[in-house]
Amino acid sequence: MIHFNIDKIITSLKSSYGKDFLDTITMQLHKSIGAQFTFIAKLDAIRNVSQTMSLVAGDEFAENFEYSLEFTPCADVSDDSTCIFPSKICNLYPKDQLLIDMGIDGYIGAPLHDSKGAVFGLVVALYSKPIENAEEVASLFELFAGRISAELERAEKEHALFELNQSLEQKVASRTHELESALKQLKSSQKQLIEQEKLASLGRLVAGVAHEVNTPLGVAMLGNSTVLAGVNQLVKKLANNTLSKHDLDAFLIDAKEAGESVEFNLNRASELVVNFKQIATDFHTDPKSDVNLVEWISSISTSLKPMLKSAGIQFKLELPPYALIVNTYPSRLAQVVTNLVSNAIKHAFPKTHNQAEKVITIRLSGDATNYALEIADNGIGMDEDTQAHILDPFFTTDRKSGGMGLGMSIVHNLVTGSLNGRLVINSEQNKGTKVSVYFAGK
Ligand SMILES: Nc1ncnc2c1ncn2[C@@H]1O[C@H](COP(=O)(O)OP(=O)(O)O)[C@@H](O)[C@H]1O
Ligand SMILES: [Mg+2]
Repeated sequence: MIHFNIDKIITSLKSSYGKDFLDTITMQLHKSIGAQFTFIAKLDAIRNVSQTMSLVAGDEFAENFEYSLEFTPCADVSDDSTCIFPSKICNLYPKDQLLIDMGIDGYIGAPLHDSKGAVFGLVVALYSKPIENAEEVASLFELFAGRISAELERAEKEHALFELNQSLEQKVASRTHELESALKQLKSSQKQLIEQEKLASLGRLVAGVAHEVNTPLGVAMLGNSTVLAGVNQLVKKLANNTLSKHDLDAFLIDAKEAGESVEFNLNRASELVVNFKQIATDFHTDPKSDVNLVEWISSISTSLKPMLKSAGIQFKLELPPYALIVNTYPSRLAQVVTNLVSNAIKHAFPKTHNQAEKVITIRLSGDATNYALEIADNGIGMDEDTQAHILDPFFTTDRKSGGMGLGMSIVHNLVTGSLNGRLVINSEQNKGTKVSVYFAGK
């Protein structure tokens, strides 16, 4: 009976992993048992083929190879039995050409089990002479089979994990790339959309301007040609000596009417042009300055009061009891307040609407970095359609009385443009309208 130095084998395996572990144990086993070839092999899933993972031939590592299990003793090992053939193996497996070519006489093979108990590998020793201590060698293999299996499985899992990690990394990289390019595309189409919208609203504005100015100019031209035709007739009759007093009277009446219409319509056209100019928010030349809003609003309301009084509207000012000094464009802000107050006067209290107490309130609140200005009325409010279109240039419910529909559009442009604020409109029918302007930051 030969005894192996198991302690030595175990010590040599300390802290070795993967390929290193397999090579160390193959070499240690090989040296202990005196075989010609010792190897550890892995089987494919259907156990047709065996692939050596570590192979020692003579006293050296040899190149790994793959072989078919058909007709081999290894096939029996893979069927889950330790095979011990101390000699004349070739008589038992006459079709195993490899064994014959290698001149093998003795064979010992032990199965390797995975954690589920299935055979997934082999540890094999081949001898060119009859084996003397075959049983002991088989026991030694069985002793280490568990350890080898565990390491093989661990290395396999590690490899799978590594591959998974890599494919995950790849996936993350490609997803990131996809997302980045999607974001890029989104940004560029957003830019494009904004440009398109700008152009479209410019187009709408220009079309609106042309239409609005055309109407009074057309009427004025008609008036003018009426006067000219009358004058021509007058000149003819004068030359013929057929001009009567009645002709002259009739002409004067027509000419006066036409002249008034021309004047009215030219005035309207010129007013329109003044308003269009205000749509371009930066037409103002007033510089930014520090304004105490409390005093400033008081003085604006003094100038608005007569207009309110004649309309029978009460005016309330709700101002903070402290100075509120902000850096702003006073004349643009004045334009906003004036437009809002005059809208409330013009639209909130129509004659058909009997209201005992008509009130317009200007409310100021906040501090120098965060302040709000509110113009509120307790009038008729607006229906949904009006609220939806109130900021559109030329939208008015009051065209008959000369409304141009530019007041709110101008307010919106000034507030969100150079005044750098936010406009919020709240309106409820028969309750009233409140327009709030919020400013943040100096
Ligand atoms: N305080 C208000 N109360 C009721 N309706 C209002 C008020 N302010 C504005 N509106 C409505 O909004 C429309 C648009 O206002 P605006 O742009 O100033 O044009 P305009 O005053 O020339 O009609 C008005 O025609 C009116 O219908
Ligand atoms: Mg208006």
